Amino acid sequence: MTAFHYAVVIGASSGIGLETAKLLAKQGARVALVARRLPELQALQQQINAEYGADRALVFQHDVHEIQAVPDLFQRIAHELGGLDLVLYASGIFPQSRPNEYNTHNDAETITVNVIGAMAWLNEAAQRFSQTHSGTIAAISSVAGERGRRMGVSYNASKAALTSYLESLRNRLAVKGVSVVTIKPGYIQTDMTAGAKLPAFPPIASAQRAAEIIVAKLQKKNTVFYVPSFWRPIAFILRLIPSPIFRRMNI
Ligand SMILES: NC(=O)c1ccc[n+]([C@@H]2O[C@H](COP(=O)([O-])OP(=O)(O)OC[C@H]3O[C@@H](n4cnc5c(N)ncnc54)[C@H](OP(=O)(O)O)[C@@H]3O)[C@@H](O)[C@H]2O)c1
Repeated sequence: MTAFHYAVVIGASSGIGLETAKLLAKQGARVALVARRLPELQALQQQINAEYGADRALVFQHDVHEIQAVPDLFQRIAHELGGLDLVLYASGIFPQSRPNEYNTHNDAETITVNVIGAMAWLNEAAQRFSQTHSGTIAAISSVAGERGRRMGVSYNASKAALTSYLESLRNRLAVKGVSVVTIKPGYIQTDMTAGAKLPAFPPIASAQRAAEIIVAKLQKKNTVFYVPSFWRPIAFILRLIPSPIFRRMNI
């Protein structure tokens, strides 16, 4: 089991990223909190520092569209934290679209935040950790990436792309002793799902519960896992449904 000492969480201002950053700090890590909304980040920083010790959390305001800023910011964060052993990319968006809408702007935006931003941050982590032969790289993908469903078209595509990118990164870095982890949540109660009409089953988990599962699995170096774990058999069945049948299902 690995205890993390220095972690950066991109997308720490709300939801799963916020709860995971908080739990990492509670377990002893120094955490760098990255996102756009400064007041939310500062509120979390104050809470962490008050509960777990001064200077436990550092804040870095950043928009993941700014990929050219990432290399310098990544170095600055590692320096100011005093080290780095976990990089978690939790930033993501899920734009809602109407059934007859084909919106290239929304699609490009989703791919930029959910995939390009992840690549910009995790490529930096890969370079650093491949030299130190240590470290854990993780990102929050989704069960949504398993199939091309009618709903959330670009979101599904973005998570499929992220899952594939992470698998490639894992295969490249395994020989260097670096762990690359793909996190696949199902329905989690956060701002992202607040306005969405979700089915009564499978049940929705809290962001706190999701964070507990994520931190425990990261420490055990699980490489691909579902959150909560009952999504694994659901995802398995989803993948098995033949396309002609899947096409007729309104999911
Ligand atoms: N909730 C679910 O059911 C569910 C299921 C599967 C996967 N996920 C994934 O879990 C991750 C976290 O989502 P969540 O549910 O916790 O939703 P959330 O509360 O809306 O959190 C999204 C995070 O992404 C950050 N973000 C969005 N755009 C950004 C940008 N341009 N630059 C930097 N950061 C940006 C937000 O920070 P700022 O707005 O402050 O920048 C926020 O911290 C996402 O990747 C999501 O796709 C969620």
